Amino acid sequence: MVQYARLVLLATCLIGQSIAYNFPYEAVQLQESDVANNPDLAFGSLPGEIPADCKTFPGDDDWPSTQRWAALNATLNGALIRAVPPLAACYQGPFYNAAKCEDVKRQSGSSLFAKEDPLIPFGMWQLGNPCPIPASTNLNNSCNFASFPAYVVNASTVKHIQLAVNFARNNNIRVTIKNTGHDFIGRNTGGGALQIWVHHMKAFEYLPSASISGYEGAAGRVGASLEQYDLLNYMNANNITLLCPGSSTVGAYGGFMQGGGFSYMTTKFGLMADQVLSLEVVTADGKFVHADLEENKDLFWAIRGGGPGNFGIVTSAVVKAYEPIPFATSTFELRTNTTSGAQVPAETFWKGISTYFSHLVRINDAKGIGWNNIGKSGRGFTFTGQVMMPSMSSSEFSSFMAPLISDLNKIGITITNPTPKWFPTFPESQFRPNGPGEGVANRRLVSRLFPREIFEDPTSKEFAKAMSAIRIFVEEGGYSFHSVDYHPSLETAGTPGSYSAVNPHLRTAIMHATGFDTQSAGPDATPEQQIAGHTRLRKYVQYWINATPSSGSYMNEGDAAEPEFQERLYGENYEQLYSIKKKRDPWGLFYAVTGVASEEWVVEGAQLGLPIQQGRLCRA
Ligand SMILES: Cc1cc2nc3c(=O)[nH]c(=O)nc-3n(C[C@H](O)[C@H](O)[C@H](O)COP(=O)(O)OP(=O)(O)OC[C@H]3O[C@@H](n4cnc5c(N)ncnc54)[C@H](O)[C@@H]3O)c2cc1C
Ligand SMILES: *[C@@H]1O[C@H](CO)[C@@H](O)[C@H](O)[C@H]1NC(C)=O
Ligand SMILES: *[C@@H]1O[C@H](CO)[C@@H](O)[C@H](O)[C@H]1NC(C)=O
Ligand SMILES: *[C@@H]1O[C@H](CO)[C@@H](O)[C@H](O)[C@H]1NC(C)=O
Ligand SMILES: *[C@@H]1O[C@H](CO)[C@@H](O)[C@H](O)[C@H]1NC(C)=O
Ligand SMILES: *[C@@H]1O[C@H](CO)[C@@H](O)[C@H](O)[C@H]1NC(C)=O
Repeated sequence: MVQYARLVLLATCLIGQSIAYNFPYEAVQLQESDVANNPDLAFGSLPGEIPADCKTFPGDDDWPSTQRWAALNATLNGALIRAVPPLAACYQGPFYNAAKCEDVKRQSGSSLFAKEDPLIPFGMWQLGNPCPIPASTNLNNSCNFASFPAYVVNASTVKHIQLAVNFARNNNIRVTIKNTGHDFIGRNTGGGALQIWVHHMKAFEYLPSASISGYEGAAGRVGASLEQYDLLNYMNANNITLLCPGSSTVGAYGGFMQGGGFSYMTTKFGLMADQVLSLEVVTADGKFVHADLEENKDLFWAIRGGGPGNFGIVTSAVVKAYEPIPFATSTFELRTNTTSGAQVPAETFWKGISTYFSHLVRINDAKGIGWNNIGKSGRGFTFTGQVMMPSMSSSEFSSFMAPLISDLNKIGITITNPTPKWFPTFPESQFRPNGPGEGVANRRLVSRLFPREIFEDPTSKEFAKAMSAIRIFVEEGGYSFHSVDYHPSLETAGTPGSYSAVNPHLRTAIMHATGFDTQSAGPDATPEQQIAGHTRLRKYVQYWINATPSSGSYMNEGDAAEPEFQERLYGENYEQLYSIKKKRDPWGLFYAVTGVASEEWVVEGAQLGLPIQQGRLCRA
């Protein structure tokens, strides 16, 4: 067996240490000699000094002068961007450009546009909708540059990241990290920040046999900014399977992996965090380090599942790879009072929902997952569900689905067993004729994890309570209920996956439920309406919580204002994570809403306590 060996560059210069990395962009590193006598760029030394009460904001006396920003830009070889929000083209002022405005308006709903912009997050509510499409009905619209990050470093080498980290820490400036920008809760943006844009660290190398962190088998070196569609291409090119996000432009190893990361193959292979065998990371002191089960073990544990962008900036990883597997999907619909799908009375509809969910344990035990949407449609209800099953033939999967269809038939829902769609490999199941890209959602979500044990006995009080919580959410609340039903157990996580900071509530869950409303995000809702909309939504989420009292929520598709977030998003790992955070980042350089130790900070000026990121960051 060929042993996996890290590329090792013997630094011939000053420090005489060996420096390890996965890809050439990581060979370009900041040296002590580069920062000599330059207090702006000096490395930090731990344990670090107590920082000021507030981060320095543009316009403050101690905000670095234009000359010092220009000097930073020179060390970055010109990679510093004074970014302009694209929709500024629609407002009077120096950036007004009618043709560009039309172009931006046309593209602004596409992830392909938003992910290629250095500045903007997908969820503009996270900055208080500071530069919305002017045609929105809110006549108070303006384009407020001050709400966005002040500068962006377009990082394409490790050295760029180190320079940005050192400059920000030495000048007490807030740091934000944008990869694709998909984040739902605003962890990727902040007013007056120095934003580190890590979108151009794309590379892949297949390792047919690797031996790292207690794992022996096939693996891949991965650049930190690979997106789902990139991974699909590498799977095809190398005849392998890799875990990846569910949508084409979500980044695989940024927020997705660092918050857990579930996929359609998660019940079989675990979460994205479970795939990681080693990491290359720039830490808050500006150093570039390797982390695995032996070296920097604390970081290795914390970054995998302990929350994105809070312990360091990941530049690459080595992850598990698997043989190609077939993949089958089966979709079905139930409806009341509409013209398509199985049309049933409302009581039968809700019995059908319970029947479907009574099969979740069986689906998960077979290593499959389910997802569904339940909502109001006209005067009735609609359910769309899909079961996804790796490693079964079409006929095996059809037989597998038969008992569910038969149970539905027994209660009077006359659907027939749909012929599964079957694909010889996972990438083929994800094929999109028009290439990657999806919509940009400016939405606030809520999340709850429903434990597997509730579903083990469909005749139990607990199961009935869960079903009734879902029904009330839709029937009385009027919201759409969405869930993805997977079970990323510790056993599936394996080695080294089971040793990580992944939320323990995910390990025992079988259903990840989400909801949102149309009033919580703006820009056409006033802050008062946004708060009221969100309060109403949380009132209905409370039914989910009452039905799952000891469980938690999934941080990557959850609420920026999650109550008791420490317990719900991190469970019993919080204390350990907190001590690693204090040891590794005493400066509080990295901050993310709902992140570990984020309770020690507040964003000033947020109207009515909206959990938005545009103001100055201060100690709470
Ligand atoms: C359309 C859509 C589909 C989704 N599908 C899924 C899904 O199937 N499963 C699932 O689990 N989640 C899913 N999500 C949620 C997803 O996990 C989060 O949005 C996640 O934050 C995206 O990470 P990103 O790196 O692409 O985005 P970004 O918004 O760029 O970054 C998110 C966070 O990660 C940090 N970060 C990014 N890169 C790095 C890095 N290199 N080092 C350190 N910190 C970094 C950022 O600071 C920020 O805090 C989906 C979201 C959307 C919008
Ligand atoms: C940084 O330098 C590049 C190249 O000289 C230049 O194009 C860019 O505008 C500069 N950035 C800032 C913020 O001045
Ligand atoms: C960012 O850097 C990459 C090179 O890594 C370059 O291709 C791209 O054009 C740059 N983007 C901007 C907006 O400067
Ligand atoms: C892909 O891998 C599988 C199993 O590892 C093997 O059976 C198959 O022949 C390979 N296909 C190609 C085209 O190499
Ligand atoms: C259709 O909607 C009406 C009005 O809401 C309701 O009274 C009726 O029971 C519904 N029919 C079915 C089949 O659910
Ligand atoms: C617009 O501004 C007015 C006056 O400040 C305020 O009363 C109103 O609520 C605002 N509208 C929105 C949609 O924010």
